[in-house]
Amino acid sequence: MATAQIYPSLLAADFGRVADAARAVEGHADWLHVDVMDYHFVPNLAFAPDTVTALRTVTTIPLDCHLMIDDPDRWAAGYAERGAANVTIHAEAVRDLPRTTDAIRAAGARTGLAVKPATPVERYVDDLHRFDLLLLMTIEPGFGGQKFMNEVLPKIEAARRLLDDRGLDLWLQIDGGVNAETIERAARAGVDVFVAGTAVYGAADPAAALEALRAQALAASPRLVAPVLEKG
Ligand code: DX5
Ligand code: ZN
Repeated sequence: MATAQIYPSLLAADFGRVADAARAVEGHADWLHVDVMDYHFVPNLAFAPDTVTALRTVTTIPLDCHLMIDDPDRWAAGYAERGAANVTIHAEAVRDLPRTTDAIRAAGARTGLAVKPATPVERYVDDLHRFDLLLLMTIEPGFGGQKFMNEVLPKIEAARRLLDDRGLDLWLQIDGGVNAETIERAARAGVDVFVAGTAVYGAADPAAALEALRAQALAASPRLVAPVLEKG
């Protein structure tokens, strides 16, 4: 059994009202997903370390930082020091993986490994014990509002089997194109942590949209259970 978790992605929020976007999902979002982009690893620019520091003062929701940057070895621990509760690095960008995950954990955060749609998980099997979360991208990283890549579904199923067979207790997260049309197939494939940007912040009522997504995931997968969240 695993908890069905929904992480609203602040990339889809109004950048002039990021604090309001965080508060809008208090008591509903398990974590908040904070995308970090550097114009190099992806052709877009997003949230700085100072934003993480500032977010910590406006919400108690734990922050999940998804680093889409070159040289995460240099920058990842800084996000943990600023108060991120999880820091995810991309497999395609990290150079010294053990050193970087050790640094994130030493700074007090959980660790995530992200792979782009074409990057095989198998290559990192012997490193998975260094991580608390595995993020399978269901779009090419860089922008919100893209279409869910159905071709990633077999990779999700294989990752689910791999984690279960090896007794690895990582959360299995997807990011990209998660919405009312796609969440059920992802839940059935074995996902337990769903990042949703447009589907949450594009809705008139973000908290209601989030809970509707969670209800769909719970109905689609017998291995998912509802979380116990403190109402904010
Ligand atoms: C894009 C980001 C995502 C993005 C997802 O690279 O990593 O977190 O916000 O947006 P949606 O849910 O709109 O696909
Ligand atoms: Zn993301």
